[in-house]
Amino acid sequence: MRAPGFAVIALVLIGATLAVLVAVSGRERAAAPAVAVSAVPEAASVAGGGVTLTSTAVELPDDAAVFPDGPNVALVNQRCVACHSASMVLTQPKMKREQWQAIVEKMRDTYHAPVAEGEVAPIVGYLAGR
Ligand code: HEC
Repeated sequence: MRAPGFAVIALVLIGATLAVLVAVSGRERAAAPAVAVSAVPEAASVAGGGVTLTSTAVELPDDAAVFPDGPNVALVNQRCVACHSASMVLTQPKMKREQWQAIVEKMRDTYHAPVAEGEVAPIVGYLAGR
């Protein structure tokens, strides 16, 4: 009997490779294992390698998310809380109108706060009138 030719061997190898690829790709992807998230008990600690990590509870101060009511407050809330909290503004020392004007212009010119030309005055009015 004649030995099988090169073409036959090559075809068999290609066929076998395709069969393996189809079998592998057809397999269902294993679902990611569900991660159980449980509340960390107070003062839980983990030790290992000479290091002990202990969790602790911290009380964060209240941080005003929005500005308190006042004229043009909606505009101020739209323009002034994208980058920092309202508290960042509310906890500043008392300032005069020109100082607030300079701050609003700095926010717009330096940090690119989206404040249109006509919006500067109403925002300054709100801040200076607090
Ligand atoms: C595009 C981002 C952005 C927006 C929007 C923005 N700010 Fe700021 N603001 C900043 C950054 C950044 C700082 C911190 C500057 C620093 O630490 O010097 C800051 C700081 C401040 C401070 C602290 C004092 C100071 O001069 O640094 C005040 C007051 C303030 N912003 C007011 C406002 C008001 C009012 C508005 C709305 C008109 C506003 N910001 C909108 C980015 C922004």
